[in-house]
Amino acid sequence: MPKLQAPRGTYDVLPEQAAARLALENVARRVLEGAGYERIETPVFEATELFSRGVGASTDIVQKEMYTFTDAGDRSLTLRPEGTAPICRAYVEHGLHVASQPVKLWYLSQFFRHERAQAGRFRQFWQVGAETIGADDPAVDAESILLLWTLLTELGVGGIQLRLGSLGTPAARAAYREELSAYLRAHEERLSAEVITRIDLNPLRAFDADHPGTRAVMAGAPILMDALAPEDLAHFEEVRARLDVAGVGYRLDPTLVRGLDYYARTVFEFTSDLLGAQSAVGGGGRYDGLVEQLGGPPTPGCGWAAGVERILLSAEHRPEPHAVCDLYVAGTGVAPFALAAEARRAGLNVQLELAGRSRKGQRKQATRLRASHVALVDDDGAIVLEDSESEERESVAGASAAVAHILKGRHL
Ligand code: HAM
Repeated sequence: MPKLQAPRGTYDVLPEQAAARLALENVARRVLEGAGYERIETPVFEATELFSRGVGASTDIVQKEMYTFTDAGDRSLTLRPEGTAPICRAYVEHGLHVASQPVKLWYLSQFFRHERAQAGRFRQFWQVGAETIGADDPAVDAESILLLWTLLTELGVGGIQLRLGSLGTPAARAAYREELSAYLRAHEERLSAEVITRIDLNPLRAFDADHPGTRAVMAGAPILMDALAPEDLAHFEEVRARLDVAGVGYRLDPTLVRGLDYYARTVFEFTSDLLGAQSAVGGGGRYDGLVEQLGGPPTPGCGWAAGVERILLSAEHRPEPHAVCDLYVAGTGVAPFALAAEARRAGLNVQLELAGRSRKGQRKQATRLRASHVALVDDDGAIVLEDSESEERESVAGASAAVAHILKGRHL
């Protein structure tokens, strides 16, 4: 039979990689829950319309990258390509706007994008993210950025840089888009074919192009930050002032383009020098119109997501220590099982001999497990307990006595 493989762009998390992921989750939980964020998980698939409305019909994500299917009930569903639109959907659906604001939520979940697979880019990937919904204070933007910076720093992600920009309000952006489209049209002969087809749909993406002619044209293009309304500029200055006092360094990037349409005002992205072409380790920004776009009341919001695979690729690995094994139980028949069950009820970490090993094999296995005690149980239930460190052995009168003996040793 031909062997089967995991689909392109996906991977298995094997036990040796699970420890680093667990460490990441523990640090994320400590940093985010410590700052008052509560965990949220939303479904893996959603109505397709959530993303076409929320992420934006003209984005690459919606146009080319979604795993969309029709279910048996003839509904168009999509494997979530990102988490912000689903969380805003949940915020509206569960009336979270009546709770005390802002609502602060975090997640660690899988997402799906049909992108060209390469190092650091997968079709099923994980993000850790945080969203603050219901407050437009610049302190929210600054704190969001600071928390992502703290998380990446605590995880030991090397060579990080922060790029920061502001996109202003949708109205300022619309006026700016007109200006940029006119500029691009005036220089059409030097632009790449792809950029030309997007002049009306999404002229901002031209800043992203690798094409040399396009890059030369973009060097002289009008810049959105010069067109911000005074209140947006003031908001941005307040965000920057807070990052400055917190000692978070950043580079202002007036051309920072994010691949999602819901952003307004602050946008940011962290990159790592240790990653190759896919250098973005995390990013986000403010999305003040999104909740309303999804049928809720006008509600500001701000947040970010970071790629778990990219964090792991660019971080020092500090895996969690393995759970200790207090007792390894070997023997035949049902008696070993009774001892294991009783020891577990008493809170001990127990592993059973499951492979029919010889006595010699059992000793080796006990060493491999670094078990502090080994119990040899015979068919009649007689138990010999061995202390791995002192190598002392003694017969104990039944399971309860064995457990009491180990617990007593633990508390000495
Ligand atoms: P995003 O920039 O599309 O933003 O994704 C955030 C991060 O997810 C990226 O910086 C990258 O590390 C990781 N990522 C994205 N696509 C892939 C992929 N195909 N393979 C591996 N990693 C990937 C968002 O998704 C927004 N929802 C962030 C946000 C939250 N904005 C506001 N709140």
